[in-house]
Amino acid sequence: MSSSSPTSAHDGAPQPLTAHRTGALQGRVRAPGDKSISHRAMIFGLLTVGETTVEGLLEGEDVLRTAEACRALGATVARTGPGAWRIQGVGVGGLREPAGSLDFGNAGTGARLMMGVVGGHGITATFDGDESLRKRPMRRILDPLTLMGAQVLAEAEGGRCPITLRGAVDPLPIEYRTPVASAQIKSAVLLAGLNAPGRTVVIEVEASRDHTEKMLAYFGATVTVTPEGEHGRRIVLEGRPELRPAPVVVPADPSSAAFPIVAALITPGSDIVVEGVMMNPLRIGLLTTLEEMGADIVAQNRRQEGGEEVADLRVRHSALTGVDVPAGRAPSMIDEYPVLAVAAAFAAGETRMRGLQELRVKESDRLQAVADGLARNGVDHAVVGDDLVVRGAAGAARGGGAVATHLDHRIAMSFLVMGLASEQPVTVDDRRMIATSFPAFESLMQGLGASFTA
Ligand code: S3P
Repeated sequence: MSSSSPTSAHDGAPQPLTAHRTGALQGRVRAPGDKSISHRAMIFGLLTVGETTVEGLLEGEDVLRTAEACRALGATVARTGPGAWRIQGVGVGGLREPAGSLDFGNAGTGARLMMGVVGGHGITATFDGDESLRKRPMRRILDPLTLMGAQVLAEAEGGRCPITLRGAVDPLPIEYRTPVASAQIKSAVLLAGLNAPGRTVVIEVEASRDHTEKMLAYFGATVTVTPEGEHGRRIVLEGRPELRPAPVVVPADPSSAAFPIVAALITPGSDIVVEGVMMNPLRIGLLTTLEEMGADIVAQNRRQEGGEEVADLRVRHSALTGVDVPAGRAPSMIDEYPVLAVAAAFAAGETRMRGLQELRVKESDRLQAVADGLARNGVDHAVVGDDLVVRGAAGAARGGGAVATHLDHRIAMSFLVMGLASEQPVTVDDRRMIATSFPAFESLMQGLGASFTA
Protein backbone atom coordinates (compact mmCIF):
# COMPACT_ATOMS: atom_id res chain seq x y z
CA MET A 1 0.00 0.00 0.00
CA SER A 2 2.79 2.42 0.81
CA SER A 3 4.16 2.08 -2.73
CA SER A 4 0.96 3.67 -4.04
CA SER A 5 0.89 6.21 -1.21
CA PRO A 6 -1.84 8.70 -2.07
CA THR A 7 -0.03 11.84 -0.95
CA SER A 8 3.53 12.89 -0.39
CA ALA A 9 3.67 13.21 3.41
CA HIS A 10 5.89 10.16 3.73
CA ASP A 11 7.99 10.64 0.60
CA GLY A 12 11.42 12.18 0.26
CA ALA A 13 13.49 14.19 2.70
CA PRO A 14 12.24 16.45 5.51
CA GLN A 15 11.09 19.87 4.26
CA PRO A 16 11.74 22.74 6.67
CA LEU A 17 9.40 25.73 6.58
CA THR A 18 9.73 29.17 8.15
CA ALA A 19 6.91 31.47 9.24
CA HIS A 20 7.56 35.23 9.30
CA ARG A 21 5.92 38.01 11.22
CA THR A 22 3.00 39.28 9.14
CA GLY A 23 0.58 42.17 9.14
CA ALA A 24 -3.09 41.75 10.00
CA LEU A 25 -4.69 38.50 8.81
CA GLN A 26 -7.88 39.11 6.87
CA GLY A 27 -10.45 37.14 4.89
CA ARG A 28 -12.90 34.24 4.98
CA VAL A 29 -11.76 30.63 4.88
CA ARG A 30 -13.20 27.18 5.35
CA ALA A 31 -11.20 24.64 7.33
CA PRO A 32 -10.97 21.14 5.85
CA GLY A 33 -13.44 18.37 6.65
CA ASP A 34 -13.36 16.88 10.10
CA LYS A 35 -10.77 14.13 10.37
CA SER A 36 -12.66 12.04 12.92
CA ILE A 37 -15.86 12.04 10.88
CA SER A 38 -13.97 11.44 7.62
CA HIS A 39 -12.31 8.27 8.95
CA ARG A 40 -15.64 7.06 10.27
CA ALA A 41 -17.48 7.85 7.01
CA MET A 42 -15.12 5.49 5.17
CA ILE A 43 -15.45 2.80 7.83
CA PHE A 44 -19.25 2.99 7.95
CA GLY A 45 -19.26 2.85 4.16
CA LEU A 46 -17.29 -0.41 4.37
CA LEU A 47 -19.66 -1.85 6.98
CA THR A 48 -22.83 -1.04 5.04
CA VAL A 49 -24.16 -3.02 2.11
CA GLY A 50 -24.92 -0.63 -0.75
CA GLU A 51 -23.59 2.79 -1.63
CA THR A 52 -22.58 5.41 0.91
CA THR A 53 -21.84 8.88 -0.44
CA VAL A 54 -19.63 11.36 1.33
CA GLU A 55 -19.33 15.11 0.77
CA GLY A 56 -16.64 17.33 2.22
CA LEU A 57 -14.32 14.45 3.06
CA LEU A 58 -10.94 15.46 4.43
CA GLU A 59 -8.58 14.35 1.67
CA GLY A 60 -5.59 14.24 3.96
CA GLU A 61 -3.21 11.34 3.94
CA ASP A 62 -4.56 9.84 7.19
CA VAL A 63 -8.04 9.45 5.75
CA LEU A 64 -6.77 8.27 2.37
CA ARG A 65 -4.94 5.48 4.20
CA THR A 66 -8.21 4.45 5.83
CA ALA A 67 -9.86 4.49 2.39
CA GLU A 68 -7.08 2.22 1.14
CA ALA A 69 -7.63 -0.15 4.08
CA CYS A 70 -11.37 -0.24 3.31
CA ARG A 71 -10.51 -1.31 -0.24
CA ALA A 72 -8.20 -4.01 1.08
CA LEU A 73 -11.08 -5.29 3.24
CA GLY A 74 -13.46 -5.54 0.29
CA ALA A 75 -15.06 -2.13 -0.31
CA THR A 76 -15.10 -0.30 -3.62
CA VAL A 77 -14.06 3.27 -2.91
CA ALA A 78 -14.14 5.97 -5.58
CA ARG A 79 -13.56 9.71 -5.63
CA THR A 80 -16.22 11.44 -7.68
CA GLY A 81 -15.15 15.08 -7.22
CA PRO A 82 -13.34 17.34 -4.75
CA GLY A 83 -14.23 15.95 -1.31
CA ALA A 84 -16.91 13.74 -2.89
CA TRP A 85 -16.58 9.98 -2.48
CA ARG A 86 -18.62 6.83 -3.04
CA ILE A 87 -18.17 3.66 -1.04
CA GLN A 88 -19.74 0.32 -1.96
CA GLY A 89 -19.52 -1.60 1.27
CA VAL A 90 -19.59 -5.28 2.13
CA GLY A 91 -21.62 -5.03 5.34
CA VAL A 92 -21.04 -6.19 8.90
CA GLY A 93 -19.83 -9.80 8.68
CA GLY A 94 -18.81 -9.47 5.03
CA LEU A 95 -15.17 -8.35 5.26
CA ARG A 96 -12.52 -9.90 3.04
CA GLU A 97 -9.17 -10.86 4.50
CA PRO A 98 -6.62 -8.35 3.17
CA ALA A 99 -3.86 -9.64 0.93
CA GLY A 100 -1.06 -7.53 2.41
CA SER A 101 -0.50 -5.56 5.59
CA LEU A 102 -2.61 -2.45 6.22
CA ASP A 103 -0.36 0.63 6.33
CA PHE A 104 -2.00 3.47 8.25
CA GLY A 105 0.91 5.87 7.84
CA ASN A 106 0.74 8.47 10.65
CA ALA A 107 -2.87 7.76 11.63
CA GLY A 108 -3.68 6.44 15.09
CA THR A 109 -7.39 6.89 14.51
CA GLY A 110 -7.42 4.86 11.30
CA ALA A 111 -5.34 2.07 12.80
CA ARG A 112 -7.23 1.83 16.07
CA LEU A 113 -10.75 2.02 14.66
CA MET A 114 -9.89 -0.53 12.01
CA MET A 115 -8.47 -2.86 14.67
CA GLY A 116 -11.94 -2.77 16.16
CA VAL A 117 -13.52 -3.60 12.81
CA VAL A 118 -11.14 -6.52 12.17
CA GLY A 119 -11.36 -7.64 15.82
CA GLY A 120 -15.06 -8.40 15.32
CA HIS A 121 -14.58 -10.40 12.14
CA GLY A 122 -13.05 -13.82 11.65
CA ILE A 123 -10.21 -12.55 9.46
CA THR A 124 -6.53 -11.89 10.06
CA ALA A 125 -4.85 -8.57 9.28
CA THR A 126 -1.52 -6.90 9.99
CA PHE A 127 -1.57 -3.24 11.07
CA ASP A 128 1.43 -1.05 10.47
CA GLY A 129 2.39 2.58 10.04
CA ASP A 130 5.21 5.09 10.06
CA GLU A 131 7.86 5.62 12.70
CA SER A 132 5.44 7.77 14.74
CA LEU A 133 2.58 5.22 14.66
CA ARG A 134 4.99 2.39 15.53
CA LYS A 135 5.73 4.15 18.82
CA ARG A 136 2.11 4.52 19.90
CA PRO A 137 0.51 2.22 22.50
CA MET A 138 -2.01 -0.25 21.08
CA ARG A 139 -2.58 -2.40 24.20
CA ARG A 140 -5.46 -0.11 25.09
CA ILE A 141 -7.22 -1.37 21.94
CA LEU A 142 -5.96 -4.97 21.97
CA ASP A 143 -7.03 -5.57 25.59
CA PRO A 144 -10.77 -5.15 25.05
CA LEU A 145 -10.63 -6.85 21.65
CA THR A 146 -8.98 -9.85 23.28
CA LEU A 147 -11.81 -9.96 25.82
CA MET A 148 -14.17 -10.11 22.84
CA GLY A 149 -12.32 -13.12 21.45
CA ALA A 150 -9.74 -11.61 19.07
CA GLN A 151 -6.19 -12.95 19.18
CA VAL A 152 -2.94 -11.05 18.82
CA LEU A 153 -0.74 -13.25 16.64
CA ALA A 154 2.24 -10.90 16.51
CA GLU A 155 3.17 -7.53 17.93
CA ALA A 156 6.26 -5.39 18.39
CA GLU A 157 7.53 -4.80 21.91
CA GLY A 158 5.04 -3.26 24.31
CA GLY A 159 1.97 -3.89 22.14
CA ARG A 160 3.07 -1.75 19.24
CA CYS A 161 2.74 -1.93 15.45
CA PRO A 162 3.33 -3.96 13.38
CA ILE A 163 0.53 -6.00 14.94
CA THR A 164 -1.14 -9.04 13.46
CA LEU A 165 -4.66 -9.50 14.73
CA ARG A 166 -6.95 -12.45 14.20
CA GLY A 167 -10.47 -11.27 14.71
CA ALA A 168 -13.06 -13.25 16.65
CA VAL A 169 -15.19 -15.58 14.54
CA ASP A 170 -18.00 -15.17 17.09
CA PRO A 171 -17.21 -11.97 19.00
CA LEU A 172 -18.54 -11.77 22.55
CA PRO A 173 -20.46 -8.69 23.53
CA ILE A 174 -18.72 -7.15 26.55
CA GLU A 175 -19.26 -4.37 29.03
CA TYR A 176 -16.10 -2.30 28.99
CA ARG A 177 -15.01 0.62 31.12
CA THR A 178 -12.38 2.58 29.19
CA PRO A 179 -9.21 3.17 31.24
CA VAL A 180 -8.75 6.65 29.71
CA ALA A 181 -11.28 8.98 28.10
CA SER A 182 -10.52 7.96 24.54
CA ALA A 183 -12.93 7.98 21.63
CA GLN A 184 -10.56 5.65 19.83
CA ILE A 185 -10.87 2.93 22.49
CA LYS A 186 -14.63 3.44 22.73
CA SER A 187 -14.99 3.28 18.95
CA ALA A 188 -12.86 0.16 18.56
CA VAL A 189 -15.04 -1.71 21.08
CA LEU A 190 -18.29 -0.52 19.50
CA LEU A 191 -17.12 -1.35 15.98
CA ALA A 192 -16.12 -4.86 17.08
CA GLY A 193 -19.47 -5.10 18.91
CA LEU A 194 -21.32 -4.57 15.64
CA ASN A 195 -20.72 -8.21 14.77
CA ALA A 196 -21.41 -9.56 18.26
CA PRO A 197 -24.81 -10.96 19.26
CA GLY A 198 -26.42 -9.02 22.09
CA ARG A 199 -25.37 -5.78 23.73
CA THR A 200 -21.91 -4.27 23.75
CA VAL A 201 -21.56 -1.64 26.46
CA VAL A 202 -18.86 1.01 26.81
CA ILE A 203 -18.62 3.12 29.94
CA GLU A 204 -16.47 6.23 30.02
CA VAL A 205 -15.80 8.35 33.08
CA GLU A 206 -15.30 11.52 31.02
CA ALA A 207 -17.26 11.86 27.79
CA SER A 208 -15.07 11.72 24.68
CA ARG A 209 -16.08 12.75 21.15
CA ASP A 210 -19.32 10.98 20.20
CA HIS A 211 -19.05 10.71 16.41
CA THR A 212 -19.08 6.90 16.38
CA GLU A 213 -22.27 6.69 18.45
CA LYS A 214 -23.96 9.33 16.33
CA MET A 215 -22.98 7.68 13.08
CA LEU A 216 -24.01 4.23 14.31
CA ALA A 217 -27.48 5.60 14.99
CA TYR A 218 -27.50 7.50 11.69
CA PHE A 219 -26.70 4.30 9.77
CA GLY A 220 -29.56 2.48 11.51
CA ALA A 221 -28.03 0.74 14.55
CA THR A 222 -29.77 0.87 17.91
CA VAL A 223 -27.55 2.80 20.31
CA THR A 224 -28.54 4.29 23.64
CA VAL A 225 -26.42 6.82 25.47
CA THR A 226 -27.10 7.68 29.10
CA PRO A 227 -25.16 9.77 31.60
CA GLU A 228 -22.76 7.89 33.88
CA GLY A 229 -21.52 9.63 37.00
CA GLU A 230 -20.89 13.35 36.85
CA HIS A 231 -19.21 13.68 33.45
CA GLY A 232 -19.32 10.21 31.95
CA ARG A 233 -21.49 8.22 29.59
CA ARG A 234 -22.75 4.70 29.14
CA ILE A 235 -23.15 3.63 25.53
CA VAL A 236 -25.12 0.52 24.68
CA LEU A 237 -25.08 -0.96 21.19
CA GLU A 238 -27.41 -3.73 20.02
CA GLY A 239 -25.25 -6.09 17.98
CA ARG A 240 -25.68 -7.34 14.41
CA PRO A 241 -27.71 -4.44 13.06
CA GLU A 242 -28.49 -4.14 9.39
CA LEU A 243 -26.68 -0.90 8.58
CA ARG A 244 -28.33 1.13 5.83
CA PRO A 245 -26.36 3.37 3.46
CA ALA A 246 -26.78 7.04 4.30
CA PRO A 247 -25.25 10.19 2.79
CA VAL A 248 -22.56 11.78 4.98
CA VAL A 249 -21.84 15.52 4.89
CA VAL A 250 -18.61 16.26 6.74
CA PRO A 251 -18.47 19.57 8.64
CA ALA A 252 -15.28 21.62 8.98
CA ASP A 253 -12.82 20.32 11.56
CA PRO A 254 -12.63 22.43 14.73
CA SER A 255 -9.16 20.98 15.40
CA SER A 256 -7.91 22.35 12.05
CA ALA A 257 -9.88 25.60 12.40
CA ALA A 258 -7.88 26.12 15.61
CA PHE A 259 -4.80 27.18 13.61
CA PRO A 260 -6.25 30.16 11.71
CA ILE A 261 -8.25 31.06 14.82
CA VAL A 262 -5.21 31.31 17.08
CA ALA A 263 -3.18 32.96 14.31
CA ALA A 264 -5.80 35.74 14.07
CA LEU A 265 -6.00 36.14 17.85
CA ILE A 266 -2.26 36.72 18.23
CA THR A 267 -1.58 38.74 15.05
CA PRO A 268 -2.35 42.46 15.59
CA GLY A 269 -5.14 43.94 13.47
CA SER A 270 -6.49 40.56 12.32
CA ASP A 271 -10.15 40.06 11.54
CA ILE A 272 -11.09 36.77 9.88
CA VAL A 273 -14.03 34.40 9.47
CA VAL A 274 -13.63 30.62 9.57
CA GLU A 275 -16.74 29.14 7.99
CA GLY A 276 -18.79 26.08 8.86
CA VAL A 277 -16.85 25.01 11.96
CA MET A 278 -18.38 22.03 13.75
CA MET A 279 -19.62 23.12 17.19
CA ASN A 280 -20.12 19.66 18.70
CA PRO A 281 -19.87 20.33 22.48
CA LEU A 282 -17.39 17.47 22.88
CA ARG A 283 -14.99 19.15 20.45
CA ILE A 284 -14.94 22.82 21.37
CA GLY A 285 -13.02 22.97 24.63
CA LEU A 286 -10.48 25.22 22.89
CA LEU A 287 -13.13 27.82 22.06
CA THR A 288 -14.33 27.78 25.68
CA THR A 289 -10.76 28.26 26.89
CA LEU A 290 -9.94 31.02 24.41
CA GLU A 291 -13.13 32.85 25.36
CA GLU A 292 -12.12 32.64 29.02
CA MET A 293 -8.79 34.16 27.98
CA GLY A 294 -10.64 37.12 26.50
CA ALA A 295 -10.67 36.10 22.85
CA ASP A 296 -13.01 37.99 20.56
CA ILE A 297 -14.70 35.08 18.78
CA VAL A 298 -18.28 35.46 17.59
CA ALA A 299 -20.23 32.44 16.36
CA GLN A 300 -22.42 33.61 13.49
CA ASN A 301 -25.01 31.85 11.37
CA ARG A 302 -25.41 28.79 13.58
CA ARG A 303 -27.02 26.00 11.58
CA GLN A 304 -27.14 22.22 11.14
CA GLU A 305 -24.83 20.49 8.64
CA GLY A 306 -24.53 16.72 8.39
CA GLY A 307 -26.19 16.16 11.76
CA GLU A 308 -23.91 18.59 13.62
CA GLU A 309 -24.31 22.21 14.59
CA VAL A 310 -21.86 24.40 12.69
CA ALA A 311 -21.14 28.12 12.81
CA ASP A 312 -19.06 30.74 11.02
CA LEU A 313 -16.54 32.04 13.54
CA ARG A 314 -15.51 35.68 13.31
CA VAL A 315 -12.17 36.06 15.07
CA ARG A 316 -10.42 39.34 15.84
CA HIS A 317 -7.02 40.03 17.32
CA SER A 318 -7.40 40.08 21.10
CA ALA A 319 -5.44 40.89 24.23
CA LEU A 320 -5.44 37.47 25.92
CA THR A 321 -5.05 36.72 29.62
CA GLY A 322 -3.73 33.48 31.12
CA VAL A 323 -6.23 31.00 32.59
CA ASP A 324 -6.35 27.71 34.45
CA VAL A 325 -7.57 24.93 32.14
CA PRO A 326 -9.13 22.08 34.16
CA ALA A 327 -8.08 18.49 33.44
CA GLY A 328 -11.71 17.53 32.84
CA ARG A 329 -11.75 19.69 29.73
CA ALA A 330 -8.96 17.70 28.07
CA PRO A 331 -11.12 15.23 26.09
CA SER A 332 -12.93 18.11 24.37
CA MET A 333 -9.69 19.78 23.25
CA ILE A 334 -7.14 16.99 23.34
CA ASP A 335 -5.60 17.86 19.96
CA GLU A 336 -5.61 21.61 20.57
CA TYR A 337 -3.11 21.95 23.44
CA PRO A 338 -0.10 22.65 21.19
CA VAL A 339 -1.81 25.63 19.58
CA LEU A 340 -3.29 26.72 22.92
CA ALA A 341 0.27 26.80 24.28
CA VAL A 342 1.12 29.19 21.44
CA ALA A 343 -1.86 31.41 22.31
CA ALA A 344 -0.76 31.28 25.97
CA ALA A 345 2.71 32.50 24.98
CA PHE A 346 1.08 35.73 23.74
CA ALA A 347 -1.25 36.11 26.74
CA ALA A 348 -0.62 38.22 29.82
CA GLY A 349 0.16 36.06 32.83
CA GLU A 350 0.14 32.36 33.48
CA THR A 351 -1.85 29.67 31.70
CA ARG A 352 -1.89 26.30 33.44
CA MET A 353 -3.07 23.35 31.36
CA ARG A 354 -3.82 20.46 33.68
CA GLY A 355 -3.82 16.71 33.21
CA LEU A 356 -2.02 16.40 29.87
CA GLN A 357 -0.74 12.83 30.30
CA GLU A 358 -2.49 11.66 27.11
CA LEU A 359 -0.44 14.18 25.10
CA ARG A 360 2.58 11.96 25.67
CA VAL A 361 1.13 9.25 23.41
CA LYS A 362 -0.10 11.27 20.43
CA GLU A 363 1.66 11.51 17.04
CA SER A 364 4.68 12.57 19.13
CA ASP A 365 5.23 13.08 22.86
CA ARG A 366 3.39 16.36 22.44
CA LEU A 367 3.99 17.57 25.94
CA GLN A 368 7.75 17.33 25.43
CA ALA A 369 7.60 18.58 21.83
CA VAL A 370 5.60 21.66 22.87
CA ALA A 371 7.88 22.36 25.85
CA ASP A 372 10.96 22.04 23.62
CA GLY A 373 9.43 24.33 20.98
CA LEU A 374 8.53 26.94 23.59
CA ALA A 375 12.08 26.76 24.98
CA ARG A 376 13.56 27.26 21.49
CA ASN A 377 11.46 30.39 21.07
CA GLY A 378 12.19 32.02 24.39
CA VAL A 379 8.80 31.36 26.01
CA ASP A 380 8.82 31.06 29.80
CA HIS A 381 7.20 27.74 30.68
CA ALA A 382 7.42 24.64 32.88
CA VAL A 383 6.17 21.07 32.81
CA VAL A 384 4.98 20.24 36.32
CA GLY A 385 3.96 16.59 36.52
CA ASP A 386 1.35 16.29 33.76
CA ASP A 387 0.60 20.01 33.67
CA LEU A 388 2.03 22.56 31.27
CA VAL A 389 2.47 26.07 32.62
CA VAL A 390 3.11 28.90 30.15
CA ARG A 391 3.91 32.41 31.30
CA GLY A 392 3.01 34.68 28.43
CA ALA A 393 4.68 37.91 27.46
CA ALA A 394 1.46 39.89 26.83
CA GLY A 395 1.37 40.21 23.08
CA ALA A 396 5.03 39.53 22.37
CA ALA A 397 7.07 36.38 21.92
CA ARG A 398 10.68 36.28 20.87
CA GLY A 399 10.52 33.42 18.36
CA GLY A 400 13.64 32.76 16.34
CA GLY A 401 13.73 29.06 17.19
CA ALA A 402 14.13 25.93 15.09
CA VAL A 403 11.44 23.47 16.17
CA ALA A 404 11.65 19.67 15.93
CA THR A 405 8.27 18.33 14.82
CA HIS A 406 8.84 14.57 15.34
CA LEU A 407 6.50 13.62 12.46
CA ASP A 408 3.68 15.52 14.19
CA HIS A 409 1.43 17.69 12.01
CA ARG A 410 0.01 19.66 14.93
CA ILE A 411 3.44 20.56 16.30
CA ALA A 412 4.39 21.82 12.83
CA MET A 413 1.26 23.95 12.36
CA SER A 414 1.28 25.30 15.93
CA PHE A 415 4.79 26.68 15.74
CA LEU A 416 4.26 28.05 12.24
CA VAL A 417 1.34 29.97 13.74
CA MET A 418 3.68 31.27 16.43
CA GLY A 419 6.09 32.55 13.78
CA LEU A 420 3.39 34.75 12.22
CA ALA A 421 3.30 36.94 15.32
CA SER A 422 6.67 36.50 17.04
CA GLU A 423 9.47 39.04 16.78
CA GLN A 424 11.75 36.67 14.87
CA PRO A 425 10.77 33.98 12.35
CA VAL A 426 10.07 30.43 13.53
CA THR A 427 11.28 27.45 11.53
CA VAL A 428 9.89 23.93 11.75
CA ASP A 429 12.14 21.08 10.63
CA ASP A 430 9.54 19.31 8.50
CA ARG A 431 6.24 20.40 7.02
CA ARG A 432 5.42 17.13 5.26
CA MET A 433 3.14 15.70 7.97
CA ILE A 434 0.80 18.68 7.67
CA ALA A 435 -0.64 16.82 4.67
CA THR A 436 -2.00 14.13 7.00
CA SER A 437 -4.75 16.41 8.34
CA PHE A 438 -4.65 19.82 6.63
CA PRO A 439 -3.15 19.57 3.13
CA ALA A 440 -4.14 23.16 2.23
CA PHE A 441 -2.78 24.69 5.47
CA GLU A 442 -0.08 26.78 3.81
CA SER A 443 -2.21 28.13 0.98
CA LEU A 444 -5.19 28.79 3.26
CA MET A 445 -3.01 30.72 5.70
CA GLN A 446 -1.28 32.58 2.86
CA GLY A 447 -4.70 33.57 1.57
CA LEU A 448 -5.27 35.30 4.91
CA GLY A 449 -1.92 37.10 4.62
CA ALA A 450 0.53 34.68 6.25
CA SER A 451 4.11 34.60 5.05
CA PHE A 452 6.05 31.33 4.84
CA THR A 453 9.36 30.53 3.16
CA ALA A 454 10.81 27.11 2.41
C1 S3P B 1 -9.87 10.83 17.75
C2 S3P B 1 -9.77 10.76 19.11
C3 S3P B 1 -8.69 11.40 19.88
C4 S3P B 1 -7.89 12.40 19.05
C5 S3P B 1 -7.63 11.93 17.66
C6 S3P B 1 -8.92 11.62 16.94
C7 S3P B 1 -10.97 10.12 17.08
O1 S3P B 1 -7.82 10.39 20.35
O2 S3P B 1 -6.67 12.72 19.69
O3 S3P B 1 -6.92 12.90 16.92
O4 S3P B 1 -11.27 10.43 15.91
O5 S3P B 1 -11.59 9.26 17.72
P1 S3P B 1 -8.15 9.60 21.72
O6 S3P B 1 -9.52 9.14 21.62
O7 S3P B 1 -7.20 8.44 21.80
O8 S3P B 1 -7.90 10.62 22.81
